[in-house]
Amino acid sequence: MSSGIRRLYGITALFDNPEKLLNAARAVVKEGYKDYDSYSPYPIHGLDAAMKLKRSYIGVVTLVAGLTGATLLVIFAWWTNSVDYPLVIGGKPLFAWPSYVPLTFEMTVLFGAVSTVTALLAVWLGLPRNSHPLHETEFMKKVADDGFGIAIESKDKKFDEKQTKEFLENLGAEKVELVYYEARELTLGETVLDPKFITAIVVVALLSSAATYLGLNQMLLIRPWSSLNVQAKVLPETKSAFYPDGFAMRPPVKGTVARGQMPYRYANDLAGAEKYMQNPLLPTKHVMEVGKRDFNTYCSPCHGYFADADSRLQGQFPVPPSLHIDSLVTAPDGLYYEVITNGYQGVMPSYARQIPRDERWAIIWYIRALQQAQNPGEVAEAK
Ligand code: HEC
Repeated sequence: MSSGIRRLYGITALFDNPEKLLNAARAVVKEGYKDYDSYSPYPIHGLDAAMKLKRSYIGVVTLVAGLTGATLLVIFAWWTNSVDYPLVIGGKPLFAWPSYVPLTFEMTVLFGAVSTVTALLAVWLGLPRNSHPLHETEFMKKVADDGFGIAIESKDKKFDEKQTKEFLENLGAEKVELVYYEARELTLGETVLDPKFITAIVVVALLSSAATYLGLNQMLLIRPWSSLNVQAKVLPETKSAFYPDGFAMRPPVKGTVARGQMPYRYANDLAGAEKYMQNPLLPTKHVMEVGKRDFNTYCSPCHGYFADADSRLQGQFPVPPSLHIDSLVTAPDGLYYEVITNGYQGVMPSYARQIPRDERWAIIWYIRALQQAQNPGEVAEAK
């Protein structure tokens, strides 16, 4: 499969206490080695200084990535809200930056955090490399437990197998060892075209598409409590299997009146309304109060508070006749009902939508009271 070549990784030296490690680190730096590292089971004060370590660049990565995230978000928000789909929300300007602040913050954190971790893994830990020559060595076991060590890599310019080994031994190391590793030359066919690899990719693709399909198209549509949204009733504009013609929306059955839906049969039939309609209410205190309230609200702007055509609209609208003229005082209730319901001569609007049926009759009682107050004796004739 692969041709293994044994190569020298470097030389490790183990010390039995941190003090010796510190001294060794200082000596290694002084000697001019660059490619080396120290290992200890816990952080040792002063080791960074002894190794003359510089500050890590990782902060710069975080800063640049964070600023990139913030910039991208601002551009994206500006482009979507001001260019691609300009939409005024709540009267604010298209580029309403205060509302982008939370998102900008989120993107800064997201980009900063993800890039920091990625850079750490890729650059500092050397991914995709997933093992290290020092793994599995006795040296590593020791420095992960109670030993303190230094490893100088063979790639260091000053490295010389014999000299470096002697140098480390002279520093008082307990044990100095050469560490080898297997260098493998992999060919393309062994990795990307490996049938196992391809099978794995295909299986993962099939599984993830199946899971996505089931999740989005099946599981999301499962109704845990269907009684709430599946009810035994017909909805408007839907097909009904119950009626032979398939229509769910039914006209009222001929000759019947639905509860609370008294039809008005004298629309545009003033004569009929005058002749057949009668006020169904009695002039109780409550009825008079409702009538007064509604008259003052709906009618008084044009007709005046006392129905004497004292319009408050200052000529912006035709002034109606006084409701105290003879013809109106003697007119039957049906005329009033018809005028309130359908408006009059295209000048006075219909109040059918604003004023419920009973309240129209209450208004009529109130108008009768106003008329009687000004024309005692004549109202009696109208009845
Ligand atoms: C926007 C103004 C306006 C409002 C509000 C208004 N009216 Fe009128 N009303 C008129 C005008 C104008 C006329 C006269 C129409 C005509 O003679 O052509 C009129 C005429 C009438 C008449 C006389 C119809 C006839 O046969 O001569 C009655 C009764 C009447 N209104 C009742 C009411 C009642 C009751 C209300 C309140 C529900 C009301 N109006 C609200 C403008 C208004």
